[in-house]
Amino acid sequence: MTETRDALIDAARDAASRAYAPYSGFHVGAALLLKNGDVVTGANVENASYGLTLCAETAAVAKIANEGWIGELSEVAIVGGRPDGDALLGTDPVNPCGRCRQILNEAAERSKTDILVHCASGDGKEIRTYRLSQLLPAAFGPKDLGLVPD
Ligand code: THU
Repeated sequence: MTETRDALIDAARDAASRAYAPYSGFHVGAALLLKNGDVVTGANVENASYGLTLCAETAAVAKIANEGWIGELSEVAIVGGRPDGDALLGTDPVNPCGRCRQILNEAAERSKTDILVHCASGDGKEIRTYRLSQLLPAAFGPKDLGLVPD
């Protein structure tokens, strides 16, 4: 549904405005749609020790896990770019990094859903939508440890 997708991308864009990214200058927002319709967002949090940076998707998944909602995920949107006033610049959709794909997979398997992942460019003109299984085929996850009951 395009309306759901666009609302989720708007929420991710809003989250990106709260990124803490003084080192890269690249602001990313992620919005997670839960099965009850709620939307939970996150933005990247960088660190002077560069490798400790938290991605937007990771921040958002941590929020739902901490609320006890890791099994409630249905869809995700990611937006990123360089801020220019209130706007985000960038013509290429932001694809989730490898670590974030794995972290999203944890919630997706727990939610028993091959979630849609909408990847949007900063300028909002390019949107690519994938199933998580396309982005992370043959994933290792909680099902492999017998932690996804029927
Ligand atoms: N980043 C994310 O937040 N999510 C991704 O999936 C890719 C990269 C952030 C990390 C860093 O703060 C900035 O983008 C540049 O790599």
